[in-house]
Amino acid sequence: MLSRICVSRRPLVVALSLCFVSAAACAQEAEVKIGIAGPLTGGGAAYGKDIENGVRMAVDEANAGHPSIGGKPVKFVVDSQDDQSDPRVSVQVAQRLVDDEVSVVIGHFNSGTTLPSSKIYAKAGIPMITPAATNPTITQAGLSTIYRVIATDAQNAGNAGTYAATVTKAKRIAIIDDRTAFGQGEADEFEKAVKANGGTIVDRQFTNDKAVDFSAQLTAIKSTNPDLVFFGGLDTQAAMIVKRMRQLGIRAQFLAGGGVMDANFIKIAGDAANGSSVWEYGQPLSTLPKGKDFEAKFKQKYGVDMLAYAPFAYDATWVAIKAMHKSNSTKPADFNTAMKGTDYQGVTGRIAFTQTGDLKNPSSTMYQVKNVAWTPITTKTAD
Ligand code: ALA
Repeated sequence: MLSRICVSRRPLVVALSLCFVSAAACAQEAEVKIGIAGPLTGGGAAYGKDIENGVRMAVDEANAGHPSIGGKPVKFVVDSQDDQSDPRVSVQVAQRLVDDEVSVVIGHFNSGTTLPSSKIYAKAGIPMITPAATNPTITQAGLSTIYRVIATDAQNAGNAGTYAATVTKAKRIAIIDDRTAFGQGEADEFEKAVKANGGTIVDRQFTNDKAVDFSAQLTAIKSTNPDLVFFGGLDTQAAMIVKRMRQLGIRAQFLAGGGVMDANFIKIAGDAANGSSVWEYGQPLSTLPKGKDFEAKFKQKYGVDMLAYAPFAYDATWVAIKAMHKSNSTKPADFNTAMKGTDYQGVTGRIAFTQTGDLKNPSSTMYQVKNVAWTPITTKTAD
């Protein structure tokens, strides 16, 4: 984090007009950089933009209150970096954010990028809060500056596995995953839970996260005559898979984990979406006290509907800003200690952290597509 005289960083005309309004504040205002890392190009770009919008909303609200920390006026500024959902690019981006001296990083989106990048932030002592990456191992590396404001796949895909084995009563379950740290991790957790509940996995196939043709895997799966197919991966591929399943005459139930319950899935799958079930992180926004208001404010500010992770990113940003206020410091070493004592009612629910930086009471909700619209079915919250 750097303290800077603001006139040196802005176009002259803006600086002059700001200084005209408040010359004293202008001269002393220190910039506090909030880093964002996620995909802003490529297949995951819509998710990355959603996260960025959530962070910017919190930053704009915080700045509107003319914040002071430790008695000094501050202005939060966003430093947003595109990791392209690529683990190799993500470590370069992480190093750039460290070099830029950001105070905190909100990101990354993918588990596959978060895992290597988190080590770079940890080494630099910079807190990282992921609003989206759900592989359970992210918080199991003993890094004291790594946090997550969303449920893990141990819980979420685990719930899907328990549901598949005990509620659907499916006798023959097949799995396909995208072989990323996320999708494969989900499939592993799903399989574990199915087996723990006495279910039978008849086939396990995999693809990759760039694939658009799943005929080979689905033809193999069809030959095992499953009554339920689980996919570990994100919305676009999930939609293409369920569509292809129906084209190939596979009548099995379609079930997925997180990252699928959004408008994109329904848009791509069309009628084939009907009957699909997913377990998704968190509680339905419509049931949360600040949920509807957040959705409306988001739409008003950006002119588009939020996709999925914006509220988690918004909450993550406020968690960091509140910890800075509480510790009277924007220095990572100081406010990281305050982060540990977080107890905050966010848009997504209560945020308090375990020793490892995960949520104390994460939730996970099952949704089903009925008449080409997502309908929440049941929510489980961990004690
Ligand atoms: N939950 C997804 C992941 O971890 C976005 O990659």
